[in-house]
Amino acid sequence: MTIKVTFVCLGNICRSPMAEGVFKDKVEKAGLSAQFEIDSCGTGRWHIGESAHPGTQKILKQHDIDYRGAARQINENDLAEADYLIAMSQTNEQAIQRLGSVQGEVSLLLDYARGVDETDVPDPYYTGNFEYVYDLVEAGTEGLLMEIRAKHGL
Ligand code: 4NP
Repeated sequence: MTIKVTFVCLGNICRSPMAEGVFKDKVEKAGLSAQFEIDSCGTGRWHIGESAHPGTQKILKQHDIDYRGAARQINENDLAEADYLIAMSQTNEQAIQRLGSVQGEVSLLLDYARGVDETDVPDPYYTGNFEYVYDLVEAGTEGLLMEIRAKHGL
């Protein structure tokens, strides 16, 4: 059985695609790709079908991560099938909870980040600071992978 991890932000063009790309890369490097299904989505519908934001694409490329996903909106299947729904901010987390009951765990990415003094990943769509977001995403996904490995004996 695979572990399904879905990252969630608002537009699915900046933060959650970055987290998806970085987490996939870590899982691949750990030789665990067969054990995971990794995806991302947004709570909003404005950017459905769009490629990731150029700022996200650029920083992923700088770290040799190839990302080709297209934005999509969260749906019933995500709520029913994801083992881990990882929200980028408390607003995203609340939006998920409002959609109905969730089968798996809902948590904040930065709950897993060691040594990070933030609760929410700030939205680079407004701040333009993709480097800082990358640092937070790196710390959060690193902690998340450690947590899942420990929990599932991987
Ligand atoms: P994201 O960033 O949630 O990290 O993908 C945003 C992208 C678009 C908008 C807001 C946030 N927007 O309002 O269009």
